[in-house]
Amino acid sequence: MKFFLDTADIAEIEEAASWGVLAGVTTNPTLYSRIGGRLADFPEHIRRIAEVCSGPVSAEAVGLDRESIVNEGLALAGIAENVVVKIPTMPEGLAATRALALRGVKVNMTLCFTVPQALLAARSGAAYVSPFVGRFDDISEDGVAHLADIVEALSNYDFEHQVEVIAASIRSANHVTQAALMGADIATVPFSVLKNLVRHPLTDRGLDAFLADWEKVKGA
Ligand code: G3P
Repeated sequence: MKFFLDTADIAEIEEAASWGVLAGVTTNPTLYSRIGGRLADFPEHIRRIAEVCSGPVSAEAVGLDRESIVNEGLALAGIAENVVVKIPTMPEGLAATRALALRGVKVNMTLCFTVPQALLAARSGAAYVSPFVGRFDDISEDGVAHLADIVEALSNYDFEHQVEVIAASIRSANHVTQAALMGADIATVPFSVLKNLVRHPLTDRGLDAFLADWEKVKGA
């Protein structure tokens, strides 16, 4: 499984990149708004992220009709070679994905919740399909089970291009564990979750004991 960071915060991206584990970044309008981003600065912000992270960087098109999505997508893809255009799962989004894919632009189809949505995204030419896990949990459904269905359904078929599943809306280490066990290609995680993934109480306790014992060695 590859790890993407689900954030628009450059400091977080720099930190994760410095750990040597960052394979990509996903952003969305909410995440950009959360860092106080302004519309006019968006292209430059995405350019900076794409510089810090050499892997795929998803930037979302916000148009609602195929023509505006395609135009936005072309502009976003023109920012840097590793920019992937994020498009919501909807009929106009499928049409725009097909048009962009035919022009060699990679698309990450987002807001994907069901097996049919994921299959349609893949068939339209999306290089990445992003099922949301946590948002199912938010409405008392089993997000991991829905993700497992999507991973299995996509694995049943061959597509004319590579399709990778990005487990998105990840809220916990358990979400990541389950996504990895079922073979999801990528997990995109907030920085707070990434930090938690590294930690375990037994690791902390073991480290404390090693350090305390080393003090004894130094004093011997
Ligand atoms: O990238 C989109 C997705 O990961 C959003 O997550 O936590 O807002 O449901 P969340």
